[in-house]
Amino acid sequence: MSRLQRLAPYLFTEIDRARRAALAAGRDVIDLGIGDPDRPTPAPLLDAMAAAIRRPEHHRYPANRGSATLRQAAAAWLQRRHGVTVDPETQVLALIGSKEGLAHLPLALLEEGDEVLVPDIGYPVYASATLLAGGAPRYFPLTAARGFLPDPAALAAAAGARTRLLFLNYPNNPTGATAAPGFYADVVAALRGTGAVVASDAAYLEVVPEGCRPASLLREADPAHERVVEFHSLSKMFNMTGWRVGFAAGHPEVIAALEQVKQNIDSGVFSAVQEVAAQALAPAGEDLLRDVMAVYPARRRLMTGALRAAGFEVFATEATFYVWARVPRGEDSFGFCRRALADAAVVTTPGTGFGSGGEGWFRLSLTAPDERLAEAAERFRRL
Ligand SMILES: Cc1ncc(COP(=O)(O)O)c(C=O)c1O
Repeated sequence: MSRLQRLAPYLFTEIDRARRAALAAGRDVIDLGIGDPDRPTPAPLLDAMAAAIRRPEHHRYPANRGSATLRQAAAAWLQRRHGVTVDPETQVLALIGSKEGLAHLPLALLEEGDEVLVPDIGYPVYASATLLAGGAPRYFPLTAARGFLPDPAALAAAAGARTRLLFLNYPNNPTGATAAPGFYADVVAALRGTGAVVASDAAYLEVVPEGCRPASLLREADPAHERVVEFHSLSKMFNMTGWRVGFAAGHPEVIAALEQVKQNIDSGVFSAVQEVAAQALAPAGEDLLRDVMAVYPARRRLMTGALRAAGFEVFATEATFYVWARVPRGEDSFGFCRRALADAAVVTTPGTGFGSGGEGWFRLSLTAPDERLAEAAERFRRL
């Protein structure tokens, strides 16, 4: 079987097909399928881009690893927000969105046939990037009984002689679960000596209510000494999914390996976008972040309340902008999501799209305008 044949169909492609069919049939579809913020990028960042795009130096090839300004801003952000110290020269790398970095990491670390510990359930890129690099995903379960966190001892037991990498993602897509303090320290301690790199997908680390600071890998494992790497994204922080910018921070050797792959594949992030990203990560950007995140708690209360009133069991969390709920008894994930689309014209994502462990669950995203979410909540009440 070729590498491409081993890939599962990309989850959102299937959902999009069903959504387009419903739209073509003239339905008033409310799309809560994909996590893509409905609100615009904050105005100060748009103004900064309007100026940056006119500067001719930005029209040339960008600094592939990220401008010094962006890398320094990223390092300063990690220091201010998370108390993490990294050297912007050797421990930070600009990414064309965190997905790009996550997807290239296995190419940087694996030889043919090496193994990667991948969460079931999880963002599909961890497994597909492993397969594309010629590696083998070894799945470990995330279950409701453990708050969708893996048991560090079980991870250590699952790590074999060919295990090169572990992917973790908290706050978690699709469940919204967050890591408890000490979790990452336990995982790193459990895997120490295996040689495996611990990678944390931190795309939702800042997608939390104001004042909330979830645990982070780099805060609990010193990236100067441990083989760890954390992936950050400006996409959800500043409603910038279309801009394609993020960064990796971690152990110098891991960063250098990822940089080497990227040097051979891409030519970096558009310099004007890098300049705006650096502004977003400056101290003033924290006010913008607060405004972006301020809309989600009320949306979550509305949707969670409606679902619970309609008899759904909803996983309790404040993090991410996803709601993770059990499908009604007697239904499976795909069947329920098909019914939600057919009967309520609401697009949701079946839990099985994130792995077999998602059976019995569905995800919806709070990234639709308030009035559309209220309408969707009303439709769920009648479903
Ligand atoms: C868990 C997770 N990681 C990473 C990404 C990629 O984000 P981006 O490439 O826009 O930074 C997403 C996007 O939805 C995600 O859900």
